[in-house]
Amino acid sequence: MYNIYIIPKLTKNQHSIAFYPKFAIITLYKFSYRLYRFLIIQSVLLVLIRISASFMSIIYSAAQPTGNIHLGNYFGAIYNWAKLQDDNECIFGIVDLHSLTVKNNPTELRKRIYDLARIYIASGIDPKKSIIYRQSDVSEHAELAWILNCVTPIAELERMTQYKDKSAQHKQNINAGLLTYPCLMAADIILYNTKFVPVGEDQVQHVELARTIAKKFNNQYGDTFILPKSKLNKISARIMGLDDPTKKMSKSATSEYNYIALTDSPETITKKIKKAVTDNGSEIHYTLDKPAIANLMTIYHLITGLELKEIQSRFKGKGYRDFKTDLADRIIDFLKPIQEKFNAIEDNELDLIFKSGAKQAKDIASKKLKQIHQTIGL
Ligand code: TYM
Repeated sequence: MYNIYIIPKLTKNQHSIAFYPKFAIITLYKFSYRLYRFLIIQSVLLVLIRISASFMSIIYSAAQPTGNIHLGNYFGAIYNWAKLQDDNECIFGIVDLHSLTVKNNPTELRKRIYDLARIYIASGIDPKKSIIYRQSDVSEHAELAWILNCVTPIAELERMTQYKDKSAQHKQNINAGLLTYPCLMAADIILYNTKFVPVGEDQVQHVELARTIAKKFNNQYGDTFILPKSKLNKISARIMGLDDPTKKMSKSATSEYNYIALTDSPETITKKIKKAVTDNGSEIHYTLDKPAIANLMTIYHLITGLELKEIQSRFKGKGYRDFKTDLADRIIDFLKPIQEKFNAIEDNELDLIFKSGAKQAKDIASKKLKQIHQTIGL
């Protein structure tokens, strides 16, 4: 048996009345479906952003506005910082408080702070991608340094190579800052939840101490700080002095023939490379028992990107003179665009960068310090 329903024929009016709820339901359905799809896409995007953010590490590094920034600072640190900016959250400090451990002329210091910012930017550090700021603009550094002073054993500070070297170098001015310098450096680093600290080899000991201090604090008060690690570029981690290839190229070297400053003129570069110490013999061959030529070849490699073997074959049968002339020319060419950019950056541009950098850095640092205050009962 079939039930036969007779569907009554609708009048024109009845038609439209029946059509409205159907239309409304379909419209509502379509709208909900689109909303649902939109929300799903949004949440997938948010999850993806979170996942990629969790892979982004916080990178912190800094340089002191002292002396002349040289090829060692550039290849050991600044050049590597610029490469890290795209895939990480980077913070680069101009650590002016650190530079007070040696005597300074205030006018010169101010100029060096601005010049160091110029060097950062001319070397490719982009203030739109990274935070560039002056340490003294963020007072949280000095306060955390004091707190860290109170958990750091003096013996740890006394064994620091830089402390020993600097107190031998500045016998008339062995101030407390020279000794407690690593606590301020530790504060710089751990204030920003830093994971990696790209530095040259000479700063590894300080980064390790920062890690030890952070660990000590965590043990005493509970987990507060991420334990930072240094990040080295093996090839350029220790560029040696041109006048003495057994010691690192240094901003505080007594002779200007120790280093090539990033702002050196072509004439000065040619003169300094010509005067650079070489080893016995005349062959352009990389071997560790010829530290002078090994260092110059490393610089040649960093400047040109040519492998050591290629450099060796390029200068086969030629002597130090040819090699040095070519090296000087290549350094001059390499530094030219950096110097042009350096000279084009105005102070008022830097003022804006400092203002924005200080705001961004302070935002992070003040939150962290508040957390530290709570942890230690202040
Ligand atoms: P500073 O200003 O002496 O040097 C800046 C960076 O340059 C590296 N460097 C070298 N790398 C290779 N070869 C060389 N000859 C050479 N000379 C210097 C240094 O290792 C450094 O990476 N204490 C630090 C500044 C600082 C800091 C920090 C660094 C203060 N707070 C926090 C990292 C994180 C210093 O005096 O660097």
